[in-house]
Amino acid sequence: MNILITAGPTREFIDPVRFISNPATGRLGYLIARKAKKKGHNVFFVVGPCHLPPLKGVKTIEVVSAVEMKREVEKLFPSMDVLVMTAAVSDWRPAKKSSKKIKIKKRWTLKLVPNPDILKFVSGKKRKNQLVIGFALESTSILKNAREKLRKKKLDIIIANTVKNFGTSQNTGKIFMLYSDGKMINLSGYSKEKISTLLIKEIEKWKEKVMC
Ligand code: C5P
Repeated sequence: MNILITAGPTREFIDPVRFISNPATGRLGYLIARKAKKKGHNVFFVVGPCHLPPLKGVKTIEVVSAVEMKREVEKLFPSMDVLVMTAAVSDWRPAKKSSKKIKIKKRWTLKLVPNPDILKFVSGKKRKNQLVIGFALESTSILKNAREKLRKKKLDIIIANTVKNFGTSQNTGKIFMLYSDGKMINLSGYSKEKISTLLIKEIEKWKEKVMC
């Protein structure tokens, strides 16, 4: 299968030396990409700025901002069987990036504009037999909010996570895998390693089903 995986944070620059970002490590996406490659799939990895060792045999495209990530995902998506969007895309970017370093001032207001929702955009163009998997990071009402995102973003699967698991190597909070047909798997307590193995298995099961 052709599998596209995104990972890491995005950086939205305010001026040449300052940006808005988040502490995503990119590790889960990295593990999924590594596992998929080991299973013999053709893997494409679009990754925001993070400190991950190179993945042998995986076509890796490094990006910085959400707009750049969208451009790369949009280009690759039509020829993919599967998209796994683990990236922690910044929801906003500065309305204007200053070309010069902004001088220190006492108090000022930074105007933000929303970034494009990459997942929503590409899943709107989804062909039959393409599988789209997203993630949801929630502070409260994890299941309710994740179900809503699954529906709104027209996903096949969503992995619902608590903020407790964000930016760490340990998963101590709740995690659920929700399917568009209503099926749900509780992954709470699973390591990122175990989640990546399970996800690849589920992707392969899905492929077998659509081939029949
Ligand atoms: O709406 P929320 O940001 O919680 O959605 C999370 C999911 O949507 C993740 O899979 C993330 O990669 C994706 N996303 C996106 N583009 C954005 C924001 C999030 O593709 N601008």
